[in-house]
Amino acid sequence: MGKGVENDESIDVIISSLEECANNLGDIVPMVFERFFALDAGAHELMGHSDQHMQGRMLESVLDLLMSDEHFEPGGYLDWELDNHLDAYNATVDMYEAFFVAIKEVVRIGVGDGWTSREEAAWQSRIEQILSRVRNHGSAHA
Ligand code: HEM
Repeated sequence: MGKGVENDESIDVIISSLEECANNLGDIVPMVFERFFALDAGAHELMGHSDQHMQGRMLESVLDLLMSDEHFEPGGYLDWELDNHLDAYNATVDMYEAFFVAIKEVVRIGVGDGWTSREEAAWQSRIEQILSRVRNHGSAHA
């Protein structure tokens, strides 16, 4: 129960920081992918060719995961997406970690002074939830 409330609070904080970030930076797709590719050369190799529309759709799906629990059920969107990415695209767990570092860094810059330990904790907690699913999935498919 307590966990559910904490989770809802994290989601609220994430939604407001994304709004603030959009007000300040506009479209963050190019910045997120630039940072992602700088952090992980393998990811750059794998998807450096992808166009901005594809990158936009991918970021949108990632933000959906950060803003709602509805995709977390067994056999749901996240599981499907992980099958697809880890098996078919050869994405790796490290690449997922780098991707979430990149998003968080860009949003932190976009939020500026409004980024406090509350934002840090909310983002960290949601990201960890998703990454723990990625890691479990990754080891099951290793
Ligand atoms: C939770 C994290 C992620 C989600 C929800 C996600 C979601 C998506 C979606 C929805 C697409 C299809 C876009 C479209 O064509 O409509 C896509 C494409 C793709 N994603 Fe991800 N993605 C994630 C993380 C990653 C990571 C870490 C990598 C590693 C490099 C990656 C590599 C790719 C590649 C290679 C494509 C296809 C690119 C192309 O066809 O040009 N994704 N992703």
